[in-house]
Amino acid sequence: MNKEENYSLLYKQIESLIAGEKDQVAVMSNTAALIHSSFGFWWTGFYRVENGELLLGPFQGPVACMHIGYGKGVCGTAWKEHRTVVVPDVEQFPGHIACSSESRSEIVVPVVQRGTVVAVLDIDSRELATFDAIDAEWLEKIVSLLPPMGMEDEIYLAAGCFWGAEKYLKLIEGVTFTEVGFANGNTENPTYKEVYTDQTGYAETVHLRYNPNVVSLRFLLEMYFKAIDPTSLNKQGEDEGTRYRTGIYYTNPADSKVIEEVMAAEAKKYGLPLQVEVEPLRNFYPAEEFHQDYLDKNPAGYCHLPVALFELAKKAKDRKNS
Ligand code: SME
Repeated sequence: MNKEENYSLLYKQIESLIAGEKDQVAVMSNTAALIHSSFGFWWTGFYRVENGELLLGPFQGPVACMHIGYGKGVCGTAWKEHRTVVVPDVEQFPGHIACSSESRSEIVVPVVQRGTVVAVLDIDSRELATFDAIDAEWLEKIVSLLPPMGMEDEIYLAAGCFWGAEKYLKLIEGVTFTEVGFANGNTENPTYKEVYTDQTGYAETVHLRYNPNVVSLRFLLEMYFKAIDPTSLNKQGEDEGTRYRTGIYYTNPADSKVIEEVMAAEAKKYGLPLQVEVEPLRNFYPAEEFHQDYLDKNPAGYCHLPVALFELAKKAKDRKNS
């Protein structure tokens, strides 16, 4: 098997092994183990960005340096420069950090999520010039499979007028952040006024961040469905237009499975086709400050959601997690 075939197989193995798993350490552990064993490298592992430095783990291989500074060594360089660094001969790389004297060549791939380096994947070989553009390309693909870092996951939900939707979703335990804005449209930097013309393709959407240890995506989606009429196309309450369509937009491909399951369960309840759009998030622009937390600032403002729903959201607990 040549290198390319080996990577192609490895990629599929990693993809199926980690499917649906959201814990970053669990996923990084098995990813490192698979890469390490399939090529027989000397050292394969991750350094995570923690408190402004790179911190060791998880990894496979001999003992390694635990802390690496920004811009230091090959790892710190990949972090600082947001790019994969291939080093055919470690002795020729100024500032290389020799955790092990056996290491002769190295590749470091940054794990970039939402434009930020959250970790690096570092691989060392005892041979010179082990790594080239093929390794870089495949390892970049592999790290793009990693789930979002940290304790927060995110989802974007369009539920008609975003004023009430934000107030409602924000009350659910485990939701750590909300902002309203415009998702999956066709123009740049849309304003509320532009979106209001219904000519921009945008949907009024709530961006949610949540702690998956407190509330699951499944539960959040079930709560979301309580606040919409999923069979109604481009109309929720008194609000009509494509900007008021319902939609679930995800940034983590692993979420699509749960979304499909919840959609199927809801479709069964209604016995009608659902009009909820499910797509990867293509773009999102936060709405003007005036619209953020609108109903908290304007308690008498228009809202198509009944007050009882807010009471429900306040008390709702994801039983799975309680
Ligand atoms: N050589 C790396 C340090 C990490 S070890 O290779 C595991 C560097 O220069 O960043």
